Amino acid sequence: MTQAPRPPLPWTTRISVAVASAVTDAARRSNGTVNRRLLSLLDARSRASAKPYRGVRSADVVVDPVHHIWFRLFAPSDSAAAAGEPFPVIVFFHGGGFAFLSPASRAYDAVCRRICHEVRALVVSVNYRLAPEYRYPAPYEDGTDVLRFLDHGGLASADPAAADLSCCFLAGDSAGANIAHHVARRWAAGAGWERVRLAGMVLIQPFFGGEERTEAELRLTRVPLLSVERTDWMWRAFLPEGADRDHEASNVFGTRAAAGELEASLPEAMVVVGGFDPLQDWQRRYYEGLRSRGKAARLVEYPDAIHAFYAFPELKEASALMEEIKRFVDAHRSPAK
Ligand SMILES: *[C@@H]1O[C@H](CO)[C@@H](O)[C@H](O)[C@H]1NC(C)=O
Repeated sequence: MTQAPRPPLPWTTRISVAVASAVTDAARRSNGTVNRRLLSLLDARSRASAKPYRGVRSADVVVDPVHHIWFRLFAPSDSAAAAGEPFPVIVFFHGGGFAFLSPASRAYDAVCRRICHEVRALVVSVNYRLAPEYRYPAPYEDGTDVLRFLDHGGLASADPAAADLSCCFLAGDSAGANIAHHVARRWAAGAGWERVRLAGMVLIQPFFGGEERTEAELRLTRVPLLSVERTDWMWRAFLPEGADRDHEASNVFGTRAAAGELEASLPEAMVVVGGFDPLQDWQRRYYEGLRSRGKAARLVEYPDAIHAFYAFPELKEASALMEEIKRFVDAHRSPAK
């Protein structure tokens, strides 16, 4: 047997990764439920901060108190004073296998603050309902509800910074990138949008899958954070009871996927792939699926990157990703459109 390759990681990152994996595994029960009480103790959280921190103000905004849908809004701290151009809006969906974490989780609070600061955009980090308590299509509906809220002027009441909703991006990582794709389809299918226009999708290591075991899933069995045992658990928690992984939510361009006419209306996607991510074959297939449907798409590959590398700011790929997102957003800002 050949030795499984190991990603080059500083030892401090290895410890953080091991802790994150241990917390998730401890909270994930074999009967498919999540120990929320344990997580509430172990998931480190940050508060929103009206006082600028690292160049960014943040505030939590309630969208639907019944379903506990809210978002954390991040705005450049000089934005209230900046009289000039309005900011693009990045609607961000956090990862965590559809079952874990929130915009208040420390790692996501930091990632969104960094995107806001470096891209100079408003970031709307969505708190959607989690599996298995809420399965497919709950987070897709929640994301669409947040877009409607923005379309109806919800941002104007929340923040004095000027938002350019005609330059809106759907972004996410892992399960959050899956959600971004499906919310974009719902936006494309929906009628009556007045303000929100999607200018692009930023899909960071999207969580897609299927019944097939791909080459990378079979080869990368000893990499940090993800294994097929873990991803199978997450699909079982999220997909409808009894569904398999070729469901259209997971195998989006598979044989049972929804007919493709909506894809024509999707905005350009930037798809980020890491060389130590067992999901990488599904992500490249997604990119190729977009291309074969005539969509513009950009593939960004980081050969040394593990799944969730951007949550570790010490990694050079995390900085490179910020620059790449900025380039993508700047390239799709079209004031005249
Ligand atoms: C799953 O296991 C937990 C802990 O053993 C238990 O409290 C819960 O009721 C179980 N849920 C189901 C749906 O079996």
